Amino acid sequence: MSESRYRILQRPRRLRSTPAVRELVAETRLHPADLIEPMFVVEGLDAPREIASMPGVRQHTKASLQQAVHEAADAGVGAVMLFGTPAVRDPQGSQGWNPEGVLANAVRWAVEAEPGMPVIADVCLDEFTDHGHCGVLTPDGRVDNDATLPLYARMSVVLADAGATMLGPSGMMDGQIGVIREALDAAGHTDTILMAYSAKYASGFFGPFREAVDSQLTGDRRAYQQDPANVVEGLREIELDLAEGADIVMVKPALPYLDVLNRATKLSNVPVAAYVVSGEYAMIEFAARAGALDRRRCIMEALTGVKRAGASMIITYWATEAARWLTG
Ligand code: PBG
Repeated sequence: MSESRYRILQRPRRLRSTPAVRELVAETRLHPADLIEPMFVVEGLDAPREIASMPGVRQHTKASLQQAVHEAADAGVGAVMLFGTPAVRDPQGSQGWNPEGVLANAVRWAVEAEPGMPVIADVCLDEFTDHGHCGVLTPDGRVDNDATLPLYARMSVVLADAGATMLGPSGMMDGQIGVIREALDAAGHTDTILMAYSAKYASGFFGPFREAVDSQLTGDRRAYQQDPANVVEGLREIELDLAEGADIVMVKPALPYLDVLNRATKLSNVPVAAYVVSGEYAMIEFAARAGALDRRRCIMEALTGVKRAGASMIITYWATEAARWLTG
């Protein structure tokens, strides 16, 4: 004990004094079950391949996918999210709804590896079209909203048939949640969960993802993804997806949009997910490799910040590793 010559009744530092006390008063806790690990599967790949712009993340074969799904399950990760890259692409993205296509197969492989693990499949055509856009094009090269919707519906039923627990429509077409819900229900998939990429921004932070899926995109997605300047528009998208029957809504990317995330949690009566995207991953990985950041500390700080802002669950390429840190 030390005597003070000051009369300070309120001393916030008391609650920071030891690791045990800090743990006791922590307002936010990460839990492995809140984390979702995205995985990339490439058709016809002989061996897993490192993604240069996402050090530590790989494009998977069947065997390496199943291994990664086991590791995620062992670490207590809450779900896996799958993306597929086909061997051939066309203007419609028809491999997206091929029942024997790469993504439907990946869903089956993941379910086979860990039958209890929730499997989320991305519903979007950008990995499957030869122009790299998220839908089919009009003759003058714009993405045709209403012509794309039945393709999403078809793809959704195929992925639900393959065993997906949950679908993540990420194409930002107006009305997509309602059309997909109707198609799933008509096919008897009333229990398939819809995780709507509601407030998805036209972001430069998706850069490394393009390499991960060998994207063919030239140009950008600003005519369908949202303007980074807008928050009210993001809240409107969330309200529309809730009205159309979304079971979970999402804000993406996460770190530059924590204000949108926080406001979304106040508006939504369903869980809100946040996606820490490829470029956010790359920022910390490359800074850590350059010796500028303490990698583990900054990863956990970033994920804690997303949780503190209100996310119920976080999609992150660090899910398995962070889950191990949390339990190990
Ligand atoms: C679209 C999709 C994208 C991402 C997830 N789903 C790419 C895009 O919209 O351009 C990006 C994820 C990431 O950057 O980690 N299928």
